[in-house]
Amino acid sequence: MNTHKQSYQGRASSPARRSIAALLAVCALVASQAAATLPVAAAQAPAQVPIVIQFSHVVTADTPKGRAALKFKELAEARTAGRVRVEVYPNSQLYKDREEMDALKLGAVQMLAPSLSKLAGFGGGDFEVFDLPFLFKDHAAYHKVVDGSIGAQLLRKLEARGIKGLAYWDNGFKVFTANRPLESVHDFQGLKIRVQASRTLVQQMRQLGSEPSISPLINVYEALRKGDLDGEENTPVNIYSQRLHEVQSSLTLSRHGYLAYAVIVNKAFWDRLPTDIRSTLEGAMRDATAYQNGLAETANTRALEQLKASAKLTIHIPDAEQLAQWREALEPVYLASQAWITPGLIAAIKLATGAPP
Ligand code: SIN
Repeated sequence: MNTHKQSYQGRASSPARRSIAALLAVCALVASQAAATLPVAAAQAPAQVPIVIQFSHVVTADTPKGRAALKFKELAEARTAGRVRVEVYPNSQLYKDREEMDALKLGAVQMLAPSLSKLAGFGGGDFEVFDLPFLFKDHAAYHKVVDGSIGAQLLRKLEARGIKGLAYWDNGFKVFTANRPLESVHDFQGLKIRVQASRTLVQQMRQLGSEPSISPLINVYEALRKGDLDGEENTPVNIYSQRLHEVQSSLTLSRHGYLAYAVIVNKAFWDRLPTDIRSTLEGAMRDATAYQNGLAETANTRALEQLKASAKLTIHIPDAEQLAQWREALEPVYLASQAWITPGLIAAIKLATGAPP
């Protein structure tokens, strides 16, 4: 509980958070030199000067992603015997959602683990396929995609934008919360619902008659508290760790979409690392990924229990008939998304997961 409180207070007035405008202005001034020369300097540095990897993310340190970032730090530092130092900045301390992507491309930060939805604006439009409602029936189906050739191809596409994808990290299935009960599809009419920056998610909410609102995670608590937003969708672990249950009255266990991450690095930085360091870091990332993926499902189950125990919101479990109604109402999102998702990708995912075409 304490950690949550500290994390939340930290985000409200964090002295560590930099002014993105100021930082990006500096980055723009030093332009390509910043991205190009820093990594070279790092690669040629004497042994006693560590290579620094700043790893920024937007959730609290006690979430699966927060803990896995710290695990990567521990493994990377130990296995390189101090030649690499990893600085982890959780809970938007350094950058909010969109800012962190800009910062990565400019080389102002080296490593991130954004949700797949947030890659869309950075040459990762196909990652919006993961936001399609009811695309995966369970974790195993999702893993068949990211652990196979589709997952690898999607990460490779980022390279043209100066981003190298290292791994996929799990979070879990999303649920809806709101300031009124959401039981039937009609209950969404007229509500302002926060979504991540993904055209598929925007379309999903429009299809339900809601007004989608894209905002950084760090702003959601305050917007819900003030009534600027009526609801949102997220995983139990994110809802609990951001304390969103304190400003919402109902939660619907819809499990309508899957939230996952890609761990990404600035490609120029990564390519200039000494070969032995890079392969040691790849090994550390493999082990941190296994650790993270082993935590996520249990963490969400536990967070759901904590949400129930908080007695702050009522929890609705949709029955089969309600779920069928939701699926039907959201089916047109698949057709609409063909305007931004590469033809054939949805069919390939359905084939890989054994879902009906
Ligand atoms: C995250 O889990 O990293 C953030 C998801 C969100 O913005 O809702």
